[in-house]
This record gives sequence, structure tokens and C-alpha cells, in this order.
Amino acid sequence: MIKIAPSILSADFARLGDEVAEIRAGGADYVHFDVMDGLFVPNISIGIPVLKSLRRATDMFLDVHLMIDRPLRYAEAFCDAGADLVNFHVEADSEENIRAAIEAVKARGKKAGITLKPKTPAEAAFAFLPLVDLVLVMTVEPGFGGQRFMADQMPKVAELRRRIDELALSCELEVDGGVDEHTAATTKAAGADVLVAGSAVFGRPDRAAAIRAIREA
Ligand code: DX5
Ligand code: ZN
Repeated sequence: MIKIAPSILSADFARLGDEVAEIRAGGADYVHFDVMDGLFVPNISIGIPVLKSLRRATDMFLDVHLMIDRPLRYAEAFCDAGADLVNFHVEADSEENIRAAIEAVKARGKKAGITLKPKTPAEAAFAFLPLVDLVLVMTVEPGFGGQRFMADQMPKVAELRRRIDELALSCELEVDGGVDEHTAATTKAAGADVLVAGSAVFGRPDRAAAIRAIREA
């Protein structure tokens, strides 16, 4: 079954524990935690102290999406702060350093992922696929919630689906950006397993209904 990962970027941070309890009750599978450094992307969000607090507040799977420059520097710190999965952009450093970041996360007993920005081709993920637990295809330019879904990324999702299946890898395929009850169906048709949704969950009064609508779309 498709997994839904609400992005807390669109949550009310003053009541984050309650927000996460609501999506847990509403059947969400992962909590998507967006970290931005103002360098890799033109915005700043949340980081290690908030992750530590959230780890104490919930038993949910914490899917940490690092939109930061040279993420190897912080790979272990995010594991120790309570991430279940730490995800690195392939554009954020050399292939060697991204590999080292993945290894650091695995050495800590956590899951590792890689992310591709919209202009990055599927091939950029190929060398990493046997090493990671999840690959994320961005369907907006990273940096902000509430942007319009880029349907032109679906061939990339489909290509990665084929590659993962051909190699019989256990890696999950996640899509992030502009996913809602209208755009979810096309991501599923392309082969996505995990759908991130920020504004389409936390921007709605009834989070359980919003999650259900995306799952059943
Ligand atoms: C964007 C973030 C996304 C964002 C998604 O840079 O990585 O996770 O929160 O928000 P929506 O679902 O509103 O596009
Ligand atoms: Zn994200």
C-alpha cells in the first residue's frame, strides 16, 4: 500500500507535538522533516533541536530531508537527534562525500536516502540505488511548501521505478512537492511508493480526511 508522509513544514510549529499526534491518528506512515540551511536552498527551516524534541514526543518514523550544503558534516548529528531515515541531495556534495554520508548513517543503524532536484536526471541516482533505502524525486524546486506540482518529473519517477524493479532492490521511491488529492494519482501511476504532502495535509482542518483523500486518489 502507498505510504503517506505529511511534511511538518506546513504544520503549526508552536503545537508540533499535537500536529504530529493528529497525523498519527489520521493514519500517516512517516513524518517528513524538512531541514533547510539558507545556502543549498533559499530558505531556512528547522534543525537538530526541533528533531530532538519531536523524537521525544512521538514514536512515528521520522523521514529527515536534508536540504543543506555538504550534508556529511551533519549526518551523524541528525541520526543521534532521532532520525529514522536521513536523506541527502546528490547535488549537495561530491559523489564520494554523499557515499560517505550514506555510510555514516548506516553505521549508526539508521536508514539512508538520496534526493534528486527537478533538473537532476534519474541517472544521477543509479550508482546510489543499491546503497540506499529510499530515493526521493522532487516535484517542486526545493525550498518552499505550497508550490505547484511538476508533472514533467513523472518520466523520471517511472525510470527509477523500472530500475529499482529490474535490480530487485528494496529501495522505496518517494515523491515530494505539490502532492495533493488531485496530483497523487499520477505519482502512483508512475510508480511512487511514498507520497510527501505538506500543505495538502496541514493546510486542511481535517488531517485524517486529507490523508485518506491522498491515499485513495
Ligand atoms: C519543499 C519540501 C517539501 C514541502 C512540500 O522544499 O521539501 O517537503 O514541505 O510541501 P507541499 O506538499 O506543500 O508542496
Ligand atoms: Zn521535503
